[in-house]
Amino acid sequence: MALDVDAVRRQFPSLVLGAAHFDGPGGSQTPASVAAAVAATMTAGLANRGSSTEAERRAEGVVVGARAAMADLLGADPRGVVFGRSMTQLTYDIARTLARGWGPGDEVVVTRLDHDADVRPWVQAAQAVGASVRWADPDRDTLELAPAAVEAVLGERTRLVAVTGASNLVGTRPDLPAIAGSVHAVGALLFVDGVHLAPHAPVDLAATGADLFACSPYKFRSAPRGVGCRPGVAGDAAPRQAAALQRRGARALRARHAAL
Ligand SMILES: Cc1ncc(COP(=O)(O)O)c(C=O)c1O
Repeated sequence: MALDVDAVRRQFPSLVLGAAHFDGPGGSQTPASVAAAVAATMTAGLANRGSSTEAERRAEGVVVGARAAMADLLGADPRGVVFGRSMTQLTYDIARTLARGWGPGDEVVVTRLDHDADVRPWVQAAQAVGASVRWADPDRDTLELAPAAVEAVLGERTRLVAVTGASNLVGTRPDLPAIAGSVHAVGALLFVDGVHLAPHAPVDLAATGADLFACSPYKFRSAPRGVGCRPGVAGDAAPRQAAALQRRGARALRARHAAL
């Protein structure tokens, strides 16, 4: 079926001026239906979330509905969805929180394929607690990030690996399930920057193997916001899960070394 370009174009009032918007990092243009939904929500009468008044119930419905929609888009559990100002802010918050459990000798892995928003928060959080940073490099010719390039910098003290789901500069897409396999084998957590992936490909969070995933709805026709997701578990299980993963990984690594 042919795409009715004019019908799509009519949904975007900003295109009336005739400019072509190639400014991907600035976010996508906003359709009238999204702008109208935001305006209707904000002018309908809102209060703190709750169940006593109509305004409280409306606020509750907006938050619960938005989490359910995002979970539906990403194949996540709505209880694991949080909204923040931006992906960068959420990543800083998560990095600072996780770093409370790191110390000297621990390592985090970042990549040279990633946007700075998935590098700087981890580097700064690691520095703040005396942990080390290791770098995984994409292939110089293809700019593909091979799972082996990540595996090469993993170790018994790796606590977290931060990797992009898709490069915003060149579009290459690391093999997330393969990377997740080796990251989990050493007991570390996998954080995936899905800002560029989510607008361009269907996402099934469980299939990616990510423990934490962040994206930015303003890159796919929504209001300026960041979204953080955990695939299935409600928030306060994270530290327990991380500790268990890390114990299991350390055992696996010791067993592998003993067998060599
Ligand atoms: C791949 C990628 N990751 C992260 C970000 C940062 O997202 P945000 O603006 O929500 O902080 C961007 C922004 O352009 C991006 O392209």
